[in-house]
Amino acid sequence: MKCKRINILIIFLICIYFNAKTQVIGSNGKLLASTPPMGWMTWNFFGENINEQMIKEMADAMFANGMVKAGYHYIMIDDGWQGGRDNKNNIIPDAKKFPSGIKALADYLHTKGMKLGIYSDAAPLTCAGYTASLHFEEQDAKTFAAWGIDYLKYDYCNAPSDSVTAKARYKAMNDALRKSGRDIVFSICEWGERYPAKWANKIGGQLWRTTEDIRDSWKSLIHIINKNAVLNKYAAPGHWNDPDMLIVGLNGNKGPAGDLGGTGCTLAEYKTNMSLWCLMASPLIATNDVRNMTSDIKEILLNEELIAVNQDAMGIQAERKITTDSVDVFVKPLVGQNYAIAILNKSNKAIKYKLHFSSINIEEKMKIKDLWIHKNIGEAKELETTIEAHETKVFKLAKN
Ligand code: GLA
Repeated sequence: MKCKRINILIIFLICIYFNAKTQVIGSNGKLLASTPPMGWMTWNFFGENINEQMIKEMADAMFANGMVKAGYHYIMIDDGWQGGRDNKNNIIPDAKKFPSGIKALADYLHTKGMKLGIYSDAAPLTCAGYTASLHFEEQDAKTFAAWGIDYLKYDYCNAPSDSVTAKARYKAMNDALRKSGRDIVFSICEWGERYPAKWANKIGGQLWRTTEDIRDSWKSLIHIINKNAVLNKYAAPGHWNDPDMLIVGLNGNKGPAGDLGGTGCTLAEYKTNMSLWCLMASPLIATNDVRNMTSDIKEILLNEELIAVNQDAMGIQAERKITTDSVDVFVKPLVGQNYAIAILNKSNKAIKYKLHFSSINIEEKMKIKDLWIHKNIGEAKELETTIEAHETKVFKLAKN
């Protein structure tokens, strides 16, 4: 009998061990990335054609156009910044692209209340063939910390495909970051291939890509939504599913997201991108040219009521409660026993849709606000709405 109890206890402890998440607490005593990171990343518009002048212009534009105020604090430098290693094996930037060095850029952003992210890879070379960090994890993490880096996207090109190696390589970089003396958010980018939702948080990552690279097209958008939607139970404060950057405003321009059929999206489709990234508690990382945005695109990226849903302190990723051939309904519980609901019209024509709240397990009368037109539309146990082809409507349901 005693032996049986001990066995049960051992199994219980093993279960706790394997389900334990690593909560990384920053030097201010707060959880690192307690809400989904928000910012702008160089990749999908500029690819490797980056430089310090352009990045400063982006920061200035984000400051002037209200993005920083709305929460887009990070600028992430993606692949293409590296200039090899010096004679002490320290990683260095390309001197033509970053003549003042990365520290000067980080200082510039920090004075604006912004943060700087950088990119490397768990192999000798990155995806675009630049110097990467394998076997230099501690040295590179110290360099990044000394430069004032706040976020590292760590890619997995040119690395072995098995999960044991992937986990070990990501853990090596995580441990190096934690020893670097600076709070650096760790973004794991192995494209969801080894099911990182199950292990990335345990080795210390704050977010992990769940899919291959997003393209600027409806086909890619809907494919990525489908992959990310089923991972809701893995998201929590400090641990986020990352379905890749927002494509809002890329408008079919050339660049990595325009490759392989990325011909651009309609405004309704870009609204779907923003709506569902907010509902799915995804990182909000724009990648369009934020120096030149139309008012329509600005309105999408700066929808503060939707951003508040994304940044809700409970950090719950919406559950897809209803899915039919033409409609998906996502439900995200919010602080104060409120909810955000998103209704996605996947079909190619406008539809009228009636949602009885009881079908998503909400039995009470709720106050309803449309978060795209910013209007209260009454108090009820159901709502009816018209949704354009590929559009997503978002409503906040409040108890009082
Ligand atoms: C991979 C990543 C992209 C981008 C490029 C850079 O494809 O998934 O997001 O970082 O590498 O080369």
